[in-house]
Amino acid sequence: MKKFYLIGNLKMNLSKAELLPYFEKLKSKNYKSKVGLCVPSVYLPLAHKELNDSNVLYGAQNIYYKDSGAYTGEISAKMLQDFNTKLVLVGHSERRALFGETNEVVNAKTKKILEYSYTPIVCFGETLAERNQGFAKDVVYGQIRGALENLSKENMSKIIFAYEPVWAIGTGINATSKQAEEIIAYAKEVVYELSSSREIVMLYGGSLKASNAEDILNQPSIDGGLIGGASLTFEDFNAIIEIADRISQA
Ligand code: PGA
Repeated sequence: MKKFYLIGNLKMNLSKAELLPYFEKLKSKNYKSKVGLCVPSVYLPLAHKELNDSNVLYGAQNIYYKDSGAYTGEISAKMLQDFNTKLVLVGHSERRALFGETNEVVNAKTKKILEYSYTPIVCFGETLAERNQGFAKDVVYGQIRGALENLSKENMSKIIFAYEPVWAIGTGINATSKQAEEIIAYAKEVVYELSSSREIVMLYGGSLKASNAEDILNQPSIDGGLIGGASLTFEDFNAIIEIADRISQA
């Protein structure tokens, strides 16, 4: 039986008043799938308090790759230890495009996240221009190779990967299940070549919602979803998780 991962990426959204009932509803459920939320860092203490004793995983959306020092505004992986953090996103296209994160930075952050025994969720994906020029697989290959540079095979197998085509993120235009399956099957081969592991968990992200979840999650290589917009309310997120639970039982 396939166990899906459904991870919400709240980005820079929601407040304490909105998160409290959301956490409450989520932890009252007994999902078959693995469910998690990557919250804004300021809400990690709240997630720790509310979710630590539940089945809901929680984590951060970013860290800096140094342990401490003169890095105004940044947060270290070390600091996340105080909140029993499980997950950390890395390489999200918004970080790459808006905050200039290169493959080298993604690699340094991935190593740091693993050093502290959190699970990195390493994101990769091509832009529309890259896809239209026929470079989608080349971009994916370069981003995966870059993220995994000098990592041990054992560490590689601890990573959750997320294919998020940039053109599908927050646009309402999801990749078709065929497009997502094609890239994820390919990306799993790339990771296999490097890690020798066939146990890699790889998610799809990009306008995933209840109306397309069934089709996308039914693809053989897709192990779940990284969900932005449709994770901002319990109702929307729950609808996707219930679809995943249903598929995994079928
Ligand atoms: P979206 O975002 O579901 O709103 O497209 C996904 C993500 O950026 O992780």
